[in-house]
Amino acid sequence: MHFNQLLRERYSIREYKSQKVSKALLMEVLEAGRLAPSAANKQPWKFIVVSEEDNLNKLKSAYNREWFKKVPQIIVVCGDHSESWKRSFDSKDHCDIDIAIAVDHMTIRASELGLGTCWVCHFDPDLVKELMQLPDGIEPIALLPIGYPLENKPPYKIRKNLDEIVFEERFGNPLKK
Ligand SMILES: Cc1cc2nc3c(=O)[nH]c(=O)nc-3n(C[C@H](O)[C@H](O)[C@H](O)COP(=O)(O)O)c2cc1C
Repeated sequence: MHFNQLLRERYSIREYKSQKVSKALLMEVLEAGRLAPSAANKQPWKFIVVSEEDNLNKLKSAYNREWFKKVPQIIVVCGDHSESWKRSFDSKDHCDIDIAIAVDHMTIRASELGLGTCWVCHFDPDLVKELMQLPDGIEPIALLPIGYPLENKPPYKIRKNLDEIVFEERFGNPLKK
């Protein structure tokens, strides 16, 4: 599929078939994450694939939503703050930015492979840390359910118009067409 079409067609999937994704396909998605750019090429990401029922059920309790109880697999995307680049001027930690790019790569590659994903950040971080046995400095940043979509594509994307978000020369100055 053409990249532009992929961008238009990817959307968050919250209903999945129970079938799990093969290791080979999962590896394709993880590889897309691995290839992401990162500040100073620090690659401060770690991906934990959770597929076993017992572990999945425990992890699902970190995000208490009906749809999430039925997801067949979850990738826990973590950021390593001891590795991520910090800007010298103000020490801004770029970990979240790097992780977001890696997750975006994975969601788009998954979509290309006919798989569905949905970013989840509204989870209990302490519970995820405990369940995943994360060492200090490693933060769970996103839970990424992955599987075969059950739902139909929404008719259109809800997005702001370009003229609301793009300016020319300075903030607030509309871009002339
Ligand atoms: C950083 C981030 C965090 C998100 N967290 C959640 C979440 O906790 N639960 C959820 O259902 N969706 C979550 N989403 C999905 C957004 O709601 C969704 O991407 C947005 O509404 C646009 O819809 P689309 O992905 O279908 O284009 C998150 C998305 C992003 C990028």
